[in-house]
Amino acid sequence: MIPAIRGTRDILPGEIERWQLVESTAREVFELYGYVELRTPIIEREELFAKGTGESTDIVQKQMYAFTDKGGERVTLRPEATPSIVRAYVEHGLEQAMAVPKVYLIGPMFRYERPQKGRYRQFHQLDVEVFGVKDPSIDAEIIDLAWTLVQRLGIENVELVINSVGCLVCGPRFSQALVAALGADLSKLCSDCQRRAAANPLRIFDCKVPEDQPIIDRLPHTIDFLCEECRAHFEAVERYLAAYGIPYHLSHRLARGIDYYTRTTFEVLGFNLGAQNALVGGGRYDGLVRMLGGPDRVGIGFAAGLERLVLALPPTAGRVSGPPDAFVAAIGDASRDVAFQLVRELRLAGIRADVDYESRSLRGQMKRADRVAAPLVLIIGGDELARGQVKVKDMRTGEQADVARAEIVRFVQARAAASRP
Ligand code: HAM
Repeated sequence: MIPAIRGTRDILPGEIERWQLVESTAREVFELYGYVELRTPIIEREELFAKGTGESTDIVQKQMYAFTDKGGERVTLRPEATPSIVRAYVEHGLEQAMAVPKVYLIGPMFRYERPQKGRYRQFHQLDVEVFGVKDPSIDAEIIDLAWTLVQRLGIENVELVINSVGCLVCGPRFSQALVAALGADLSKLCSDCQRRAAANPLRIFDCKVPEDQPIIDRLPHTIDFLCEECRAHFEAVERYLAAYGIPYHLSHRLARGIDYYTRTTFEVLGFNLGAQNALVGGGRYDGLVRMLGGPDRVGIGFAAGLERLVLALPPTAGRVSGPPDAFVAAIGDASRDVAFQLVRELRLAGIRADVDYESRSLRGQMKRADRVAAPLVLIIGGDELARGQVKVKDMRTGEQADVARAEIVRFVQARAAASRP
């Protein structure tokens, strides 16, 4: 056997119903808020993420599935959707096509991380982005959307954390203050942090090395270095959240691991998930569109990890596809052909119908019908064929009735409608 690649997963019947529930709920909620779906390629130019996600991030430094293709081009499997969506927005002039460009994407992402519960190398995101709105009401809408999605899914034990990392003006001032505050302690931090201090000091907040944490916990807070406009923006976001009754906490260390963030950052954390507890992460990125060659437009969005939402769902959530409405059993070769025709007719009429393909005895076919829990078995034998009838057996009561061949589809339709929830 050739096993699946480490960090990738097959999603099998039994689990897939939970995925379908998450995806359909997400589509419903996103569309309520005015977001429309788009899809972008899984493979992109490497430089899109080197520039967009940022050279100083762990994603670009350590986790990209990047390679040279047969044409000599450096390409990568996308590690996140935001730079791809920005690229598509710029490349197709979506701001002309849409009054307020509000889009969502559902699909696989790839990061070469150490696999563990809730962390995979191929995983899936529900990603939402909106462009061109500076007003803090959109920050609150995006946070509300993420929160509402999690609530609608019935996920309990969650916490919303928010922060502001400032703008292109006050952000760099904070970075300087960070390095100054670290002083001699910088040399005590891990080698990744040394690199981060030179490339983008804010990334020090992404450090997970236990020995570094006491030093990092003592560092200044972004929130205390915000310029006037960033402060007013953040206070407005907080006011909206309070007005919507969405509970949140401030998290001073929420710098979010990606270089493009400006102002608002947020996460929804789940407490039944283990170490990988971020269900949703997002924030504002006011310089990214410009940096990727587009017009000077702001943006904000979030991504939710599908695997993690599925893990956090209540245990009984997700519709398992039900049994067929009817099982068709044939006695003898002549009847078999009629049986296959009837199955097709039933299906085209919207009835879930099943049949035996292996010329089993009637007993064998009845066993099979029982195994798939079909409530009705439609039996066609020589007699029925001659009389233009079908024998219907109700598997629950054991009752049998003869129904005219011409009437059978309507008969089963009525029975199925009466027994479906
Ligand atoms: P991110 O925080 O890197 O943000 O990822 C968002 C979510 O994707 C995480 O909260 C988590 O649920 C899920 N996730 C990330 N890595 C993995 C993994 N290896 N295995 C399973 N799930 C994972 C972004 O990707 C940004 N693009 C979000 C964004 C959109 N910001 C603005 N717009």
